[in-house]
Amino acid sequence: MASATAPGKVILVGEHAVVYGRPAIAAPVWQVVAKATIAPAAPGAGFTIVARDLGQVLQLADASEDEPLAVVARLALARLGIAHLPDWRIELHSDIPIAGGLGSGAALSTALVRAIFAQAGQTAPPAIVSELVYASERFYHGAPSGIDNTVVAYGQTIWFVKGQPPEPFTPGAPLLLAIADTGIRSPTVLTVSAVREAWLTQRQRYESIFDAIGDLVHAARRALVYGDAVTLGALFNENQAWLASIGVSCDAIEALTSAARKAGALGAKLSGAGGGGNIIALVEPTTAAAVQTALLAAGAQRVIITPIGAHTSDGLDAGQP
Ligand code: MEV
Repeated sequence: MASATAPGKVILVGEHAVVYGRPAIAAPVWQVVAKATIAPAAPGAGFTIVARDLGQVLQLADASEDEPLAVVARLALARLGIAHLPDWRIELHSDIPIAGGLGSGAALSTALVRAIFAQAGQTAPPAIVSELVYASERFYHGAPSGIDNTVVAYGQTIWFVKGQPPEPFTPGAPLLLAIADTGIRSPTVLTVSAVREAWLTQRQRYESIFDAIGDLVHAARRALVYGDAVTLGALFNENQAWLASIGVSCDAIEALTSAARKAGALGAKLSGAGGGGNIIALVEPTTAAAVQTALLAAGAQRVIITPIGAHTSDGLDAGQP
């Protein structure tokens, strides 16, 4: 028997523009995780994936070609050179809200890949996990940049440019985020394709917005490295204004981000694809409680206070090979 976990994620700056080649910065969130537990099943029982949170029970032998969890499981088995489906049963659980911008799909797939490797007595390096999970991400995202699978697989704050190896880095000083859920579920694939439609018809305008976002992401990296929370907060606000201008914000996001700023947050923005999902607010130990209270009063369904860059993990539970 083996088990493995994978964290949720936030995009600190640069979502959407990252799909068009600009850099972005993302960080793992270990307060919410996906977990996969795998055990041998009775001979002839086949390879079963039980994902109760998704209401899914999949027999891998019969699962369709466009079922993300089946795609990723088949790829992991192939990578391990396991040609015949073993009699294994995998239970998947996640407390990461689905379609909430926190990388639920990537985390489920990452936990699944790690558990399959662990059951085969191997440890999957982050680059391999990320590559395998990317193949399933296109079912959630349409045209994913690859940032979600990368940050979840590496479990570290990363500088990411599509098509290039990620650069994990450590912020120069501890930073604190409030992550607040609008309660609105917004599938990434819909927002990403709406942005693409608009980009196709207003290419010049969108390219210059993406350039501006790219510039602020560079400034945000410097602010993170120097531990300059005041500058980073201002960059969150600037990024949010650009995201609103391309139509991926919504009333609930605006209500939560402005409530957070009024309560003392240094900056706030949507995180992930937008259209709902979660917002992030940069807070300090002295303002965290007031911001949390204000977010809940403004309608947040759940607020997580989390440090950035403080935790890394290989996602394997203690005692696994
Ligand atoms: C989703 O977490 C981030 C987006 O930029 C999509 C992607 O990069 O694949 C909206």
